[in-house]
Amino acid sequence: MIPAPRNVQRRAGRGKGTAVLTLSIIKADTGGWVGHSSVHPAMVEVAERAVAGVRGSLLIDADVQYCGDDLALVMTHEHGLEAEAVHSFAWDVFLQTTAVARDLGLYGAGQDLLSDAFSGNLRGMGPGYAELELEERPSEPVLCFFADKTEPGAWNMPLYKMFADPFNTAGLVIDPKMHSGFLFEVHDLFEDQRIVFDCPAELYHLLLYIGAPARYVVKRVFSKTLGEIGAVTSTQRLALMAGRYVGKDDPVMIVRAQSGLPAVGEVLEPFAFPYTVAGCMRGSHHAPFMPVPRAMAHPTRFDGPPRVVCLGYQLKDGMFGTPRDMFDDPSFDRARQTANEVMDYLRRHGPFEPHRLSLDEMEYTTMPAAQEELASRWEKGTEGLPAVVSGAK
Ligand code: F6R
Ligand code: MG
Ligand code: MG
Repeated sequence: MIPAPRNVQRRAGRGKGTAVLTLSIIKADTGGWVGHSSVHPAMVEVAERAVAGVRGSLLIDADVQYCGDDLALVMTHEHGLEAEAVHSFAWDVFLQTTAVARDLGLYGAGQDLLSDAFSGNLRGMGPGYAELELEERPSEPVLCFFADKTEPGAWNMPLYKMFADPFNTAGLVIDPKMHSGFLFEVHDLFEDQRIVFDCPAELYHLLLYIGAPARYVVKRVFSKTLGEIGAVTSTQRLALMAGRYVGKDDPVMIVRAQSGLPAVGEVLEPFAFPYTVAGCMRGSHHAPFMPVPRAMAHPTRFDGPPRVVCLGYQLKDGMFGTPRDMFDDPSFDRARQTANEVMDYLRRHGPFEPHRLSLDEMEYTTMPAAQEELASRWEKGTEGLPAVVSGAK
C-alpha cells in the first residue's frame, strides 16, 4: 500500500483558511497562422484582454503563452482542480480566439473545440489541461512546458530521466530528500485505468509501460519524502475523443523544482537530447523533439520538427512575475543541431516506416479513409496471377 502524498491528504481535509493554490494550464488549437504553424497576434491579444478582466477576481494571476498553433492560458487560482468556473472561462476565451481566427480566415479555426456547449469541465471537450494543487513554498520555482506537433506520451522519457535516472539527476544520488524516490502515476489512454509505480524499486515495471508512449502516459509524479506533487501532464488524446483525426494533442506539463525535487537544470537536462516523438506532419511521423525559445516555436519544415518551449516562473503569493524563456540558451544549440540532422535522416525515408508511424498508430490519422477507397480492390488468395492480369475479371 502506497501512502497518499501529503498535499493530496491536505486537500481531502481542506478547510477555510488553508492556502491551497491551484496552478492550471489549459490549452487549445483554435486556429493556425499560417497553416498549422503559429498563433496570430490578434488571438493572443484577445486572450490577454480576457485574462486581464479576471486577474485579481476569478484568477489570482494568468499568463498567455503559445507554442506552434496552440494557445495556452497559465493560471493560478483557489478554485481547485477541474473547477467549473475556471474551465468555463478558458472555454469562453477559446470561443473568442476562434471567432478572431474565423474573421481573419486563419486555418482550422476552432480545431480543438469538439463540443458545441460547455458542460461542467473540459474533460472530453478537446482542450488539454494540466493542473496541480500546491501550498506555495517560501520560494516556488515552477517550469511549464508547452509542445506542438506531438502527443502526451512525449513527456514520458524526460519525466523518467528527471525523477528516476541518476545519470540525469545528480540529486537522486546526493540529496537525502530524494533518496526514498518518487511515485509515478501512469494512465492507460485506451482503457479507463491507471497504475502507480513506486520508484526506484519498480523502475523496470514503470519502463515496461511508459516505453510505449502512444498508450501509457505519466500523468503525475509525487515525491515520497516531501509528500508533494512534483509534476503533472495533460493526457487527452484528441483522436480517441473525437473518433477521427483532428490534430495532434500538443501536450503541456508542469514541473516543480528544487529543495528535494529535481533542480531547474535537472528538469531541463533531458531535453539536451532531442529524442524521437510521434507527431510532425499529419500527426503521422516520428521526428526529433526540438527544444526552442519562444521565438523559434513555429514548426514550418514538414509541419515540424515537433517543438517544446519551457517557461520558468518564480511564484510569489500566486503571482507569476516575469517568465524566463528557459531554452533560450546556447547550451541547447547542439540539441537543435542534432534535431535538424536527425530530421534530415528521417525525411529521406519519405513515406516509409519508421519515419511514418506503424500501422496501428496510423489508425488514428486520415489513413483509414484513404484505405477505404481501395477496399474493394483486394482479392482473396495469393496463388496464380491476379485476376486483373489474367483477365479473369
Ligand atoms: C499535425 C497537423 C498538420 C496537419 C497537416 C494537414 O498535427 O496538424 O501536420 O495534419 O498540415 O492538414 P489538413 O489536413 O488540415 O490540410
Ligand atoms: Mg492546428
Ligand atoms: Mg498544434
